[in-house]
Amino acid sequence: MSKLFVSEHPLIQSKMAMLRDAETGAKEFREIIGEVAMLLSYEATRDLPLKEVQVQTPVDVAQCRTIDTKLAIVPILRAGIGMTEGLLRLMPTAKIGHIGLYRDPNTLLPVEYYCKLPADVEERTVFLTDPMLATGGTAEAAIGFLKDKGVKKIIFLCILAAPEGVKKIQEAHPDVDIYAAAYDKCLNDHGYIVPGLGDAGDRIFGTK
Ligand code: URA
Repeated sequence: MSKLFVSEHPLIQSKMAMLRDAETGAKEFREIIGEVAMLLSYEATRDLPLKEVQVQTPVDVAQCRTIDTKLAIVPILRAGIGMTEGLLRLMPTAKIGHIGLYRDPNTLLPVEYYCKLPADVEERTVFLTDPMLATGGTAEAAIGFLKDKGVKKIIFLCILAAPEGVKKIQEAHPDVDIYAAAYDKCLNDHGYIVPGLGDAGDRIFGTK
C-alpha cells in the first residue's frame, strides 16, 4: 500500500487558509500554490537515495552525501503547471515533462493528447503534479502512462486530496506515494473537493 503523507507544517497550514479563501485573487493564488508546492517537495524528497561523496573544503576533505537519482517533474496539464516553479526551486536540475489527458466522451477512457517527457525519463524519479486529487481518474491514468513509458519511480504531489482519489491511486498503483498539503472530506455531485478551494486551474490562470 502506498503512503499518504499529509503535511501538518504550520507554514503549509497558513498558506492553505489563504488558498482556500474565495477572496484570494489569481496573482496571490498562483504565488501561494508555488510556495506550498515548494514546501511539499521538501517533504516528498525526504526518502530519495543518497550516495557518499568526498568534498575538498578549504580546510580538509569532508565526507558528504548527495542525491543518487536523476529527477524529473511532470505536471499534468493544465493545473499541474502551477506547481512546477515551486518544485524547481528545490530541484533546479530536474528535467521537466508534460502530460495532458482527456476523457473520451464515448468510452469514458482517459486518452493522452499531449506527452513530452525527458528522453531518459525511465532512469529518473518522477514527481507527478496535479493540485487537486479529486476522483483520481486523471492521476491514475497519468501514472499508468508514465509506467508504460518505463518510469519505475513515481511520487505524486497534490495540494488537496480527497478520499476517493487517494483510494483510487492506492488500489491501482500501490507503489506510488502521495504527498498532499491537506486532505478534505469528500467530493460534491460535480466532482469538486469539499470544502476544497474551487477550480484550481481557473484560479491559477485567472480564467474563471
Ligand atoms: N479539480 C479542481 O480544480 N477542483 C476540484 O475541487 C476538483 C477537481
